Amino acid sequence: MRNTVSTILEQKNRKDKITMLTAYDYSTARLIDEAGVNSILVGDSLGMVMLGYEDTLSVTMEDMIHHTAAVARGCKNALIVADMPFMSYQTSVYDAVCNAGRLMKEGRAHAVKLEGGVRMCPQIKAIVESSIPVVAHIGLTPQSLNVFGGYKVKGRDEETARELIRDAKAVEEAGAFAVVLECVPDKLADLITEAIHIPTIGIGAGAGCDGQVLVYQDMLSLYSTFKPKFVKCFANVGEIMTIAFKQYIEETKAGVFPGEAHVFNIPDEIIGKLYK
Ligand code: KIV
Ligand code: NA
Repeated sequence: MRNTVSTILEQKNRKDKITMLTAYDYSTARLIDEAGVNSILVGDSLGMVMLGYEDTLSVTMEDMIHHTAAVARGCKNALIVADMPFMSYQTSVYDAVCNAGRLMKEGRAHAVKLEGGVRMCPQIKAIVESSIPVVAHIGLTPQSLNVFGGYKVKGRDEETARELIRDAKAVEEAGAFAVVLECVPDKLADLITEAIHIPTIGIGAGAGCDGQVLVYQDMLSLYSTFKPKFVKCFANVGEIMTIAFKQYIEETKAGVFPGEAHVFNIPDEIIGKLYK
């Protein structure tokens, strides 16, 4: 079944958990889509997990369009959400609308995601008014790394907890159709989930959210040995890949690969003539 903004919204009312995973390329998007996930996020985490940057700040619009288009070609049913990269929407409402439009037109995303609550509402409103669905992202917002001096849980004290509730209500009011809660105490995430009518999609925000999102490299142990508290390893694919790579090297060196099954034949009589 094709997932749309309306089917995602209905899932909240039915209490049917929304599943979201990141993808950045055609082959992985196909596997994730065929597994039956509701939504694929082309996250700006691609800067780190695909491109090897230290943080997400260097990711460009061109990077996002390139990867979103590849994901779109691999998807039949998932709702594709593309992250707006750092400085593609903070600069002005006009820039936000133009760049959201590029992710839709050139990347073929179905929706865009941007970081920020109250202070990003003018951008959210304008993008939604341009007929582009928006997912907001509050709590730990990696693009603000340098303001906060690191990646930290948000909403542990009364002041920041109230601020998060205000942000969630504000992005709903501005027209966002869902909100990602990253690294928020689970009981606060529960409260926010009850307080708003749009779905909450949690990452490090507990099981009470309307949905969950994970970076696929994290759940498959493909990226780094550092494992944030909220990550669960569902399969150690990194280890399986390493075993396969080593076996390829060994078999090639030993002349075991390629074998009979992997070669093309030519009739003996022809090869005999060529040797003369
Ligand atoms: O970029 C990303 O992968 C994200 C998720 C962690 C929500 O924004
Ligand atoms: Na992101």
